Amino acid sequence: MGADPIFLSDDPSAQRFDAHCRRVAAWTVELARARQLNTDEIKSLERAALLHHNLLAVLQGDAREHFLSDLGVHEVETEPAPGGRHEILEIANALDEHFEWEPFSDHSENDVNPAAAAALDCLRCAGEADLQSALRRLPVFPVAAQKALALLTRDDWNAYDLRVVASADQVLASEMIRAANSWAFAPLQPIMTLPHAITYIGADHASKILLAASLKPLFASPKLGEIWNHALEASEAAQCIAKLSGRVHPEQAFLAGLVHDIGRLAMALLPPEFQRRSARLLEKGCELMLVERALCGSSHAELGAAALRQWGFPDTLIDAVRFHHEPDLSDSALASVLYLAERCTNPWEDLPSIVRRTAAMNRLGLQHEALSSVDRSSKLDGLRYSR
Ligand SMILES: [Fe+2]
Ligand SMILES: [Fe+2]
Repeated sequence: MGADPIFLSDDPSAQRFDAHCRRVAAWTVELARARQLNTDEIKSLERAALLHHNLLAVLQGDAREHFLSDLGVHEVETEPAPGGRHEILEIANALDEHFEWEPFSDHSENDVNPAAAAALDCLRCAGEADLQSALRRLPVFPVAAQKALALLTRDDWNAYDLRVVASADQVLASEMIRAANSWAFAPLQPIMTLPHAITYIGADHASKILLAASLKPLFASPKLGEIWNHALEASEAAQCIAKLSGRVHPEQAFLAGLVHDIGRLAMALLPPEFQRRSARLLEKGCELMLVERALCGSSHAELGAAALRQWGFPDTLIDAVRFHHEPDLSDSALASVLYLAERCTNPWEDLPSIVRRTAAMNRLGLQHEALSSVDRSSKLDGLRYSR
């Protein structure tokens, strides 16, 4: 997840403008590094990129001071970018404008303008072979999760079946007991056994905990723990949106929420240069989807769909994950649920898009105010990885 941007204004259009300048600066730095410019040249270009719309000309007083200190700029550079280096700034700007206009384009390869294409060529550090290799090296889908899914996709499961599946795996059983003892369920006396945990929290909640706990080991590394914690929040938001809409089964939305960003597991297996570049770009406030597409020509949505196909998931879930950042390109109502859940829980993964948001709301028959009632409190906090 990237750093939260600090905005100068509450005005959304000013915020978008500010975010654009910061992203152009981030692309510029990476392009300059790829072309092996020296540190002073890179810093000078970064400053020129940050100020390339001459935002300072319209800022006065505290806002101007805040802007400069936030950027770490003390002496305002008024001269243009260093001689011969203008092209880097121009192609960085073209790349960002390409991404900003992408929701409005017809998605054909030809609509990438030559300057943006030059930036993409220079930034690309992982190709199709790396993506396929990452997918091959994904962990085996957990046996406990296979059993949980096989059970919960039946119509006739009951509390005893949950107990049988959970008790076959010691880690799963202890996760369920721990989740039942978490603040969300707040028992007066500690819960010590699996039957007591299931009885206390009820079969419906227990089934969700079983599913989540069985998938949690896939994210068992410090780097992936944050992604898992977001998946827990997204799964509950997705379930809530599905209930509001009435057009998607809430349990299906919950499962989709848990696996919606599973492609990031594969992204974490791409080569070290990809990891270094993406960490720097995210740190500077570039959105995840833009970084992925710039550096490897794919996204965690595409890789997630490929991973789920590899693990034998049904097409409805695969399609929803594939289009969870582009619901306007799919007929899947579940993709729209995931898009809105993503916007509610981690809007920094992608640029905001009124086109996509409206398409998702229309597909689900929701009014714009509906999202304000999405419950963001989590009953699954006991399953989070600690930071
Ligand atoms: Fe995502
Ligand atoms: Fe996400």
